[in-house]
Amino acid sequence: MSDQTPGTRENRKDEHIQAVRQLSDTHVTGLEDVVLLPESASEIDWDDVGLETRFLGRDLMSPIIINAMTGGTAQAERINARLARVARRHGLAMAVGSETAALRNPRLASTYTVVRDEHPQGIVIANVGMGTDPEQAQAAVDLIRADFLQIHWNTAQELFMPEGDRRFRGLLDRLQQTADSVSVPVIAKEVGQGMTGPAAARFLSFGARGVDIGGRGGTNFIAVESWRRGQPAGADWEQWGLRTAESLLEVVHSVPPDTAVISSGGIRSGHDVAKSLAVGATAVGIAGPLLRLAANGDDAGLDRFIDELHLTLKRLMALMGVTRVNQLQRRPVVVRGAVRDWLETRGFGEDLQRLARRQGD
Ligand SMILES: Cc1cc2nc3c(=O)[nH]c(=O)nc-3n(C[C@H](O)[C@H](O)[C@H](O)COP(=O)(O)O)c2cc1C
Repeated sequence: MSDQTPGTRENRKDEHIQAVRQLSDTHVTGLEDVVLLPESASEIDWDDVGLETRFLGRDLMSPIIINAMTGGTAQAERINARLARVARRHGLAMAVGSETAALRNPRLASTYTVVRDEHPQGIVIANVGMGTDPEQAQAAVDLIRADFLQIHWNTAQELFMPEGDRRFRGLLDRLQQTADSVSVPVIAKEVGQGMTGPAAARFLSFGARGVDIGGRGGTNFIAVESWRRGQPAGADWEQWGLRTAESLLEVVHSVPPDTAVISSGGIRSGHDVAKSLAVGATAVGIAGPLLRLAANGDDAGLDRFIDELHLTLKRLMALMGVTRVNQLQRRPVVVRGAVRDWLETRGFGEDLQRLARRQGD
């Protein structure tokens, strides 16, 4: 697509959908280096295993969140409606894509409000960019009667977008102002390059109540923006950032234990979900694969995908001897290979030892 010229904000949302449909996932999350240990003496009855969990003081029926993707165009409205119905059928929380388009042009509001219409009782998450002022952020929350607000920190994407922002000074103060004034808890969100532990701690010190680590290994916005320009980013850029496992393990060992941590970036299987939860995530976010199925109008495929994630997660919980999602965090987990090297080099070696030797019931 070398003849593409970067378009308006609305075109951009449709171009992102097209790029994600065409680009393949790298799926190099590092989660293959995270090993869950079976509890051979498990005495769990299958019917006792439940997927309900708590997230920032709210009950979730599943730890899986449909992560922020789209809005702002007719195609995005159809996709959002379809995803919101999936969320309702399976009891998932759902984030909408960046609401900037609707804040600038109220005629586009329905492309986002369709999510609340289709999932009236669900947990719905608003989404704005890191430079959004507090009033606009509150408007984004109000538009969809959101339960939480994600603020995406997408510096790499901005730098690869010809029309992207180039001024980032003062954004943490803005986060603080927004967190102080909006009516719902704020989640600071990476979008595929992975947050370090200290960065997560910094977001919390500026008022965020949770973080979405947005690790490398799934949808890669450097690749997406490069696709829009018809110029491949190249291997060095596609490998820029922390893989999901590296980022998640750094973050959970750098923030207070009650922090809401969303594991995201290349979460594709029930094993990825269980590993994320076991090492300390509160919930997981999934975007790219759901977008591809929804854009194809494949409701049966969406149902199969979510059912398979839930079934695998339940099987792993039974095999690890737990009936509740948060009990996974008491079971031993071994981190090996390149991810272990990473964590040890970064000073988290003792945390890995503790993780491997946990034996709580
Ligand atoms: C088509 C598309 C559009 C996206 N738009 C947004 C957005 O507007 N705001 C945001 O915070 N993240 C956005 N994301 C990023 C996702 O929320 C998620 O962080 C990222 O895709 C990594 O997860 P994945 O590997 O499961 O796709 C988008 C992702 C996709 C696939």
